[in-house]
Amino acid sequence: MNGHVSVLLPESLALLNIHDGGTYVDLTLGRGGTSSEILKKIPNGRLVCFDLDEEAIEKSTSRLKAIGSNFTIVHSNFSNYPEELKKLGISQVDGLTADLGVSSPQFDEADRGFSYKEEAPLDMRMDVRQTLSAYDVVNTYSLHDLTRIFREYGEDKDAYAVSKAIIKKRESSPIKTTTELAELIKESKPISSRLKKGHPAKQIFQAIRIEVNGELDNLKKALDAIPSVIAPKGRVAIISFHSLEDRLVKDKFKELTVVEGNRHEMYDLPSELEEAPFINLTKKPIEAGLEEVENNHRSASAKLRGIERKGENP
Ligand SMILES: C[S@@+](CC[C@H](N)C(=O)[O-])C[C@H]1O[C@@H](n2cnc3c(N)ncnc32)[C@H](O)[C@@H]1O
Repeated sequence: MNGHVSVLLPESLALLNIHDGGTYVDLTLGRGGTSSEILKKIPNGRLVCFDLDEEAIEKSTSRLKAIGSNFTIVHSNFSNYPEELKKLGISQVDGLTADLGVSSPQFDEADRGFSYKEEAPLDMRMDVRQTLSAYDVVNTYSLHDLTRIFREYGEDKDAYAVSKAIIKKRESSPIKTTTELAELIKESKPISSRLKKGHPAKQIFQAIRIEVNGELDNLKKALDAIPSVIAPKGRVAIISFHSLEDRLVKDKFKELTVVEGNRHEMYDLPSELEEAPFINLTKKPIEAGLEEVENNHRSASAKLRGIERKGENP
């Protein structure tokens, strides 16, 4: 048991349209669930995987080695993927996939500090080489910055009340653990919010995690690089888990597949020069079916989107 059940796996593999001999990139290796299935399909191809979590790399390397040796794991933030691919002599790829966010083992291993349910030091770093942790965010950010990230990244309407409670508490002593923070969040919220479905700390923990790991900036950078690395007929398949991520993916895919005002100025004819470089493969995002959601709760919020680069195979 590798401890992580991949979400929408058959659907994302189908979307990638994998063919043997091609070069593929998995931006989020995790426990290797997606990567191992790609590798099985490309005995004569090449797979490059990224993760910034040492433990994920350690655990999935043997899983991939049991299938083949035609893969490279890069211990780096996926936002650097074009440069890292260049270092490996790769300028174009036939498919790129990402299954964003945190893996189940990252959540389940209490000492990583991602979960509001388990007592642990406030950490939440995916990459333990990084210095900024959840402790720093909670204990050093200003009232203004805490409110901003809770509002923007947590979409929590009690952002100000929670931030005020944090600032007050840390005046006497720093907030050190996940459960201490979770309790404080709960107490700072009005009864109406506490009675809502889901733990009252969920959105605030999500916001801190996004801030600590720069998740939205990394995703933006990775999306911006798509046109520079995807080969003609190459595909991109991305799974997101919350509306902020999905919005970024949706907007970038729209930008790459639709050209607004695509008419020749003088003759009102379509201008070839302005043709969109990609085709949208998922007009609506693909979501998990009832059975998958029942078996894997994490899949409930998953949205899979895909695009294909226009043109002929080189
Ligand atoms: C949901 S898991 C991927 C699971 C994987 N598809 C599987 O089937 O096992 C997401 C993984 O992406 C990694 N990750 C998240 N953001 C990253 C980033 N910016 N750069 C590199 N890895 C990242 C996390 O450390 C985590 O291991």
